Amino acid sequence: MANQDSMFMKSPYEPLMIERAEGAWLFTRDGRRILDAGAGAVVVNVGQGREEIARLAGEVVGRVNYVLPVWNTPDRERLCQRLARWTPPGLNHFFFASGGSEAVEAAIKFALMYHKVKGRPRKKKIISRWFSYHGNTLAALSVGGNLSRRADYEHVLFDWPHIPPSYCYRCPWEKTYPGCGIECATALEDEIRRHGADSIAAFIAEPMMGATGGVVPPVKEYWPMIADICHRNDILLIVDEVMTGFGRTGKRFAVEHWNLKPDVLIAAKGLTGGYIPMGMIAVDDRLIAECEQLGADFMFYTYSAHPLACAIADKVLEIMEREHLVERAAEVGARLGAQLKEELSGHPMVGDIRGTGMFWGLELVRDRATRTPYEPGLRVTSQVLAAALRHGLFVYPSIGMAGKAGGDGVMVTPPFVIEESDIGYIVRNLRSALDEVHAGLS
Ligand SMILES: Cc1ncc(COP(=O)(O)O)c(C=O)c1O
Repeated sequence: MANQDSMFMKSPYEPLMIERAEGAWLFTRDGRRILDAGAGAVVVNVGQGREEIARLAGEVVGRVNYVLPVWNTPDRERLCQRLARWTPPGLNHFFFASGGSEAVEAAIKFALMYHKVKGRPRKKKIISRWFSYHGNTLAALSVGGNLSRRADYEHVLFDWPHIPPSYCYRCPWEKTYPGCGIECATALEDEIRRHGADSIAAFIAEPMMGATGGVVPPVKEYWPMIADICHRNDILLIVDEVMTGFGRTGKRFAVEHWNLKPDVLIAAKGLTGGYIPMGMIAVDDRLIAECEQLGADFMFYTYSAHPLACAIADKVLEIMEREHLVERAAEVGARLGAQLKEELSGHPMVGDIRGTGMFWGLELVRDRATRTPYEPGLRVTSQVLAAALRHGLFVYPSIGMAGKAGGDGVMVTPPFVIEESDIGYIVRNLRSALDEVHAGLS
């Protein structure tokens, strides 16, 4: 039976009634135990059921339950001091939101405002990438590249340019790395030239494609080249780390893999580990100083920097530091990836396995040799999710990486606190799910 309040008619999910959660495990009303290898929507990095967070929440609400976002609280002050140690050097100005989409909106609006106050109001297009996901509000969808999520709103979205991502498995130029000239990066320069740099405010991308691409780390030359192109054309570089931030890829932020310093970094999800909704942007001090000098102002959301969210975010990051969870994500994640590759890369449905840290994706294809995706009508990802649930496992869906042809995949992105033995459980039960679905398809 579908959830009575559901508006998600095409959802790939089975309905579940979850009564309790602990660590990486979900417990349903009908007595099932499910290993959440998606960490929810790639959120619950520190695991569920942390008593100290529950106690802190009670204490904070008893002390102060709301403060106008223009004022400060000790929890917010502590969080900002801690965040400054986490974010790339120089990105020490923070703006808080209630989730990823709101934070993406804030980043886009900041870029538009920045150029306007600098006397360049014509710089108002945002370049982004196909097969990306940046959230569900209208500006976020406008920079998004998931065709089916955009479909019902195409008529009202901003007409902003998109370029293909760094995605060797389905290279649109049909080239092979490393002899390809990294055309996915030079495509940005071409697109800027086509529109004129004086019309482009920013480039926004996920450092590694997540929900639509099914986890796609780019080639190593990609980000340094992109940063250089943005810099030379006076275009702000906005990196969306909503999914990859706070340890998910085995570094505090994915940008650290390439020593990349964006102008604006967006984060959410892992910031509070799902204990409360929160998103944020971190902005380069230099840009903020310029804006301040020019008298710019930036409107808050009612729930920006909510005291409880700030306190919980600070506690979640403190836990990550105390338990060395970023390092754990790198170490345990490497073993998870190795085992996924060892046991599933030969599976007839598995076209590609890719990732790093606790961020792994499997792209599912009808024909491994030709990389032909399954027809979207077969709803293969939904079938795999349902089969995995029957085996006590949740993996996160990823649909759309083949563009108009669809594309199916699952993401294996467990909480960083999984036990060594859970790796075997995940791989074994995912294999059983794939076997069952494959038998039904052939
Ligand atoms: C990279 C990225 N950006 C933005 C969002 C939107 O975040 P939210 O769903 O919290 O609005 C998501 C959600 O999955 C995401 O993966």
